[in-house]
Amino acid sequence: MTPKISFQGVSKRFDTTGGTAFTALNNLDLDIEDGEFITVVGPSGCGKSTAMNIAAGLTPPSGGQVLVDNAPVKGPGPERGVIFQQYALFPWLTVRDNVEFGLTISGRSKVERRKIADHFIDLVGLKDFADALPKTLSGGMKQRCAIARAYAVNPKILLMDEPFGALDALTRVQLQNQLLSMWSKERRTVMFITHDVDEAVFLASRVVVMAARPGRLREIIEVALPYPRTEEIRLSPEFAELRNRVWRAVYHPAPQ
Ligand SMILES: Nc1ncnc2c1ncn2[C@@H]1O[C@H](COP(=O)(O)OP(=O)(O)O)[C@@H](O)[C@H]1O
Ligand SMILES: [Mg+2]
Repeated sequence: MTPKISFQGVSKRFDTTGGTAFTALNNLDLDIEDGEFITVVGPSGCGKSTAMNIAAGLTPPSGGQVLVDNAPVKGPGPERGVIFQQYALFPWLTVRDNVEFGLTISGRSKVERRKIADHFIDLVGLKDFADALPKTLSGGMKQRCAIARAYAVNPKILLMDEPFGALDALTRVQLQNQLLSMWSKERRTVMFITHDVDEAVFLASRVVVMAARPGRLREIIEVALPYPRTEEIRLSPEFAELRNRVWRAVYHPAPQ
């Protein structure tokens, strides 16, 4: 089967003020299957965001290419929804108008847009806040709104860069559960970056571990835990075992 997303020898170099090039990402090869949920973990500065931004079409690679459905990425596209840690909502628009915003370019009627927006607002649990402005919402609610907005456009791929990184532990767990329940219904392909090892294992069927200086792939760890991922699974010895394995790969890797 053709992978949904294929990183092929992807590198990114930045010029430094000293004139030497800094390698943020070195020769990344990675295939992500259609409908797969992968997470990417690694220390700060290992090139996670760089890799995702290249797949999103927001940054060009210095070498190699990313293919989406076998076609090289040349820029952003509607089939790839991007969610960042900072919610990026329009402060002057209500929750509903923020969610509808992405649909305005889709050529749908006002009635259709409203229906789709309300469906996703409901799905992320913001029904009672559809008319609220972002400044009146908690961080977790703002991020729910951002997720609803990304989902409403119906992208086949979700690229998420530490989307829950700024949230407290309880909200984070709630949003993880919600994201997995949406994913199991709609089976988008998800590339989810996190620096939280528990989160990486809980969500993914494969955890991609990266290393820094230069940013590169270190190891891919299969997470052979069944979906749906329940609280029971989160507390199981199998989960703990996998979490420890990922933790070691990130923080105490065997010498290479
Ligand atoms: N625009 C840029 N110019 C120069 N260096 C950059 C730029 N963007 C990222 N970097 C550097 O590239 C490395 C990887 O960054 P990034 O992909 O953001 O890492 P991560 O998301 O894993 O923390 C870091 O050392 C960072 O400082
Ligand atoms: Mg980052």
